[in-house]
Amino acid sequence: MVAVYHLFDVFFLDSEQITHSFKARGAFNNIIKLVESGQEARLKKKGLTTTSSGNAGIGYALACHTFGIPLQVHVPDQITELKERMMVKYSAEVIKHKLDYMDIITMAETSARVRGTELIDSCNYIDVLGGNGTVGLEILNDLPDVDVIFLPVGGGSLISSTAVYVKTVNPKIQIIGCQPETNSAMEHLVRTGKYDKLLLQDTISDATEGDVYENSVIETASALPIAAFLSVAEDYRDKKVALVITGSNIGCEKIKYILQNYSQHTF
Ligand SMILES: Cc1ncc(COP(=O)(O)O)c(C=O)c1O
Repeated sequence: MVAVYHLFDVFFLDSEQITHSFKARGAFNNIIKLVESGQEARLKKKGLTTTSSGNAGIGYALACHTFGIPLQVHVPDQITELKERMMVKYSAEVIKHKLDYMDIITMAETSARVRGTELIDSCNYIDVLGGNGTVGLEILNDLPDVDVIFLPVGGGSLISSTAVYVKTVNPKIQIIGCQPETNSAMEHLVRTGKYDKLLLQDTISDATEGDVYENSVIETASALPIAAFLSVAEDYRDKKVALVITGSNIGCEKIKYILQNYSQHTF
């Protein structure tokens, strides 16, 4: 029998952002701050280089395209076709590498140095965090009495920036980071202080990747807070709960893969 009761209060839909993920927040904040500090002409001439597993690259591609700044994005070669196409649509040059992410960062650094472009960190830079943290600001505007926020964790820019804002306003609000069991390097790092590359196993969550929610398709990374919440929903019965849906950039090939591998139907 299925228990029917009040489940959660808010789906915070950053999957509906202009670039279909929350990453546009940090990218636009970073680029706008650079432009406002008088660096626009220099950046237009030199260009920017960054690394991304997809969504940050799309955010930066649109932000740079808006201001006419050339952009090169270094990405893993398993990047979905949709994410690559979106970056290219916004005029970015996409360089694919069959390497793990830390080595891709080294390649981007070398490329920026050789080409004389400026390297930007799409995850750990203060203005990126300042932009991504506006998720916390908007959740508190929409649901001031929220008790618990579930969100996905990859590199940690979303959870850290959101938590800084939310906990400053109300330290009692609980923030729950969600990672796939097979890809939990960040959870392990926070718990033990040690980074273990071996915990980076294959996952369908390529951005920490989709699932189907009513009429909207969301990325698999965004299914993490839903899956995590459903597994502990009973514990949060009397709480006000927000689930952050971070993106919807899932391509047809990924949907086909999920249906073929995780569905009970045969194709
Ligand atoms: C759709 C989506 N959700 C969640 C995350 C994880 O965000 P963070 O890397 O800030 O932890 C990412 C990261 O790229 C993402 O693209």
